[in-house]
Amino acid sequence: MTTNVVIQGASRGIGLQFCRHLIQKGTNVIACCRAPSQAEDLQKLKSEYENQVDIVKLDVTSESDIQEAAKYVSKCHGGKLDLLINSSGILHPSGRGETSLKDVSFKGLEDTLRVNTLGPLMMAKYFGPLLMAGGGTIGKKSSDPRKAHAGILVNMSARVASIGDNRLGGWYSYRVSKTALNMVTRNLSIELGRGRKKVICVALHPGTVDTSLSRPYHKNVPAGQLFSVEQSVSYLMGIIDGLSSAETGRYYGWDGKEIPF
Ligand SMILES: NC(=O)c1ccc[n+]([C@@H]2O[C@H](COP(=O)([O-])OP(=O)(O)OC[C@H]3O[C@@H](n4cnc5c(N)ncnc54)[C@H](OP(=O)(O)O)[C@@H]3O)[C@@H](O)[C@H]2O)c1
Repeated sequence: MTTNVVIQGASRGIGLQFCRHLIQKGTNVIACCRAPSQAEDLQKLKSEYENQVDIVKLDVTSESDIQEAAKYVSKCHGGKLDLLINSSGILHPSGRGETSLKDVSFKGLEDTLRVNTLGPLMMAKYFGPLLMAGGGTIGKKSSDPRKAHAGILVNMSARVASIGDNRLGGWYSYRVSKTALNMVTRNLSIELGRGRKKVICVALHPGTVDTSLSRPYHKNVPAGQLFSVEQSVSYLMGIIDGLSSAETGRYYGWDGKEIPF
């Protein structure tokens, strides 16, 4: 049976590495990004694995793009989805998180929320039915048919989203957007968990990863704590592969430990 995965935010960073990782496992990867012609690394991957990669244009802040992409996936990829990863994200439109209130603006907050929170929610609206029709090939298999799951929805969160763990302050737009994304994830786990086969919905923190998002802050990261994308994605796939419907609605770090909301 074909395993269908949508990676949203696949042009670079962690999203691109999810594509690489899943292709190696023989998965059919539908890689969504907002500017396919500029996504050189993704295009290179497609040229190497022509039959396993389909690149679809999708700006996560555009409802019509999301709707069109979902219709396309439904029509051209068998109407079912085993895994959706919302990986796109921005720290702030300026590339740096706010350090104090004087840096906070409506524009910065709104733009960050649109990419990090509202986009993933709209993805669930249109891709939810495909996830409900999928499942079984990713995640932990249950011998009890009453506990069988449908597809899995992963929202890329961040540890700084944790209210309980917030001791430093700052980064208003990013923290607010990811905390709200965690609420979105928990809400989705309830609504998409009502069917006979439940869609598993989780929020994951990838660690501090060597990508352009975190680049301005690399010098502050203690030695050994800056992960490569390969490291981070292999940890995250370990968590995803072990998920069952009992874990839906939870928020995990890269090490598989739950993070307090
Ligand atoms: N790196 C870390 O240390 C770290 C830590 C905690 C959480 N995270 C989270 O992990 C996820 C992946 O981050 P990353 O480190 O891989 O960042 P990254 O290398 O900067 O990549 C960000 C991705 O988001 C895409 N994107 C931005 N705006 C978009 C839009 N409007 N529509 C569609 N795609 C859009 C980018 O596409 P373009 O190429 O088109 O710009 C790019 O593919 C994010 O959600 C981030 O918040 C990362």
